[in-house]
Amino acid sequence: MINNHVIADKVMKEMASELNLKKVVAEKAVDDYVKDGMTVGLGTGSTSEYAVRRVGELVKNGFRLKCVATSERTADLAQRLGIELCDLNDVDHIDVTIDGADEVDPAKQLIKGLGGALLREKIVAAASLAEVIIVDSSKLVEKLGVKTPLPVEVVPYGYKKTAYALESQGCKAKLRMSGGIPFVTDAGNYIYDCKFESIESPFFLESRIDVIPGVVENGLFLNTADAVLVSHPDGTVTKIV
Ligand code: A5P
Repeated sequence: MINNHVIADKVMKEMASELNLKKVVAEKAVDDYVKDGMTVGLGTGSTSEYAVRRVGELVKNGFRLKCVATSERTADLAQRLGIELCDLNDVDHIDVTIDGADEVDPAKQLIKGLGGALLREKIVAAASLAEVIIVDSSKLVEKLGVKTPLPVEVVPYGYKKTAYALESQGCKAKLRMSGGIPFVTDAGNYIYDCKFESIESPFFLESRIDVIPGVVENGLFLNTADAVLVSHPDGTVTKIV
């Protein structure tokens, strides 16, 4: 019993420190990059959630911001915080988007999408003058794909055939599930989590995946990040530019 308490305490402390690292980097990104009057892209995921909350504080303090959400989940949170949301079609451009990532390599290439929002995240990133990525140091890798699978969004029609084609690229493709049924994205699609041993040539792989019929979008975000802010266990934040 005592041992269980000790273990639970340790787990809680580890969770708390992980959460704080997300908060630290998210708040620094918002404080450094978001200025009054801007149009801001709001990312998706547990790290981005802290950024959205910080944006909510700025709005409460009088900042006039227009925001574009990268998922329904983020839009719900933003609405609850009193943040003004716009349709992407109604803005000329986005000044800055702050979003998380699942892996970051030394060249700032990314894997995103474990949160299921990769399609809108990529569209919003493309419409942004600056894409600022916020991660804790556990997301840094030497080569993409070593830790996490590559999420690929596919249309439901013939999805098992799409999976065969994905696996021909050298991965194991696992259909993402939620509550015993396939996970459905905001666009009504499915996601295959494609585990490679590592991704040796991300640009080549992306070109091969993008031509597979049924693929809507992949989670490789190449040459997308303008800056990556990284929080470290000692509480410091560094920047890769
Ligand atoms: C959402 O689809 C993802 O791209 C997230 O940005 C990514 O999974 C990082 O999420 P966490 O901040 O929760 O790790």
